[in-house]
Amino acid sequence: PTSVGILACELYIPSLYVEQSSLETYDNVSKGKYTIGLGQQRIAICSDHEDICSLCLTVLSRLLDQTGVHPQQIGRLDVGTETLVDKAKSIKTVLMQLFAENGNTAVEGVDNVNACYGGTAAIFNAIHWIESSYWDGRYAIVVMGDIAVYAKGNARPTGGAGACALLIGPNAPIVFEPGCRSTYMKHVYDFYKPNLSSPYPVVDGQLSVQCYTSALDACYTQYCTKAQMNNESHSNQSSVNEVNLSTFAGIVFHTPYVKLTQKSLSRLYLNDIIRGCSYIPSPLVEKYKGKIDLDSSMNDKELERDLIEKSREVYEQKTLPGLYFSQNMGNMYTPSVYYSLFSFLSSQTNDEQLYGRRILLFSYGSGLASSMYSMICRKVHDSRFTLAQIQKSVKQARHILDNERTELEPDLMDKLLLEREEKDHKAPFTPTQPSEVLKSDNMYLQSVDKNYRRFYEKF
Ligand code: ACO
Repeated sequence: PTSVGILACELYIPSLYVEQSSLETYDNVSKGKYTIGLGQQRIAICSDHEDICSLCLTVLSRLLDQTGVHPQQIGRLDVGTETLVDKAKSIKTVLMQLFAENGNTAVEGVDNVNACYGGTAAIFNAIHWIESSYWDGRYAIVVMGDIAVYAKGNARPTGGAGACALLIGPNAPIVFEPGCRSTYMKHVYDFYKPNLSSPYPVVDGQLSVQCYTSALDACYTQYCTKAQMNNESHSNQSSVNEVNLSTFAGIVFHTPYVKLTQKSLSRLYLNDIIRGCSYIPSPLVEKYKGKIDLDSSMNDKELERDLIEKSREVYEQKTLPGLYFSQNMGNMYTPSVYYSLFSFLSSQTNDEQLYGRRILLFSYGSGLASSMYSMICRKVHDSRFTLAQIQKSVKQARHILDNERTELEPDLMDKLLLEREEKDHKAPFTPTQPSEVLKSDNMYLQSVDKNYRRFYEKF
């Protein structure tokens, strides 16, 4: 198979949200801490009718409906999540209901778990299956989602929720670039969930940001080397274009909060300065080259401010257009970087200019696991799966985001999170929150019986 990539997508928009500005007042922090300091506008909240399985069931069934792909045409389904409802039974098996009722029980794949990285691990599995001797010609689907909630305190405003489903196969309009992938993994306690009965992580926020930044540096260095070698092996010319930030039409990151992506883009810019890349203005190279290195510059706030300023144009062009969902929904954990990819693609008005261009993705999951890789936009022939179709489904999600959510006051959010904390792993359970906020054609949790079995229905 050639040109393996994303054929179609569906994005979930949770029913409730809280304004970050209201949260600032409620939490009694200085005005601007969440909206300017973290760069967040709204935080997505799920009602008690929405759990991780209902989110995943909804995006999966919509993906099948919208694309017209029959469940029997799916040979692999991988799930990425860190929102666990069962220690042994995967969410993938819950999703099998949609296949088994259509006569298909031959679907490989189970759940992938490692903080926000599980979605990327799931995608890699799907690609590898299609490129392997075990591929039977059918499509793969990747579903990833999380309900990201933190205990009361400074991490709470960086919560959120989301889920997406991707149809993966050959002849795709967005292709995973062969050979261009870097990885950095380590044992760190920056964010983990040792309390199995609590939805909240134990988190060392500052350490997690440092780990994220180290992973970003390591992945970018390795990515550039590999991509450069890839370029050279595919070119007959003696000199090929150097790989740097100007190589990409878009640059998207796992997004715990928007401000971190601006810092991350400026950090990649610093990498390019240190590498002496040709597009960097020479006064800037003279100012910094040989005088700074990646390790010692990690906590240098003055340098960070200068680099944010110098890289602002690149950020506004290549990263900011991808941040609409993150800014208005918060951290979605596993699907975060993919909402950014789709937001970026749907923001582009001239598809012709995108064809043949690369988009760089950085995926980070605490603990830690991270990868950087690139995708190439392609004009497809003889296929109903096009970039325009992907942009259309992203715009539909954006319409729901802008028009169909219900605002909650922060005290109600706290009440709701307390209820989730208390009832998360209790049985039996029946959701009690008002159902007015639920949307038709979404799947919802109907009940959990005394044996902890969960039942869902379409609203
Ligand atoms: N106006 C403007 N900016 C402000 C204001 C204000 N009134 N008040 C504070 N700020 C700025 C701060 O200067 C700081 O800016 P800086 O990052 O450039 O230094 C920023 O807002 C955040 O303020 P801090 O005091 O650093 O925030 P705090 O330490 O309370 O919390 C943190 C931030 C650590 C990110 C916390 O929200 C957290 O733990 N989140 C969860 C962990 C996380 O998201 N990690 C990221 C990678 S791992 C993952 O995805 C889970």
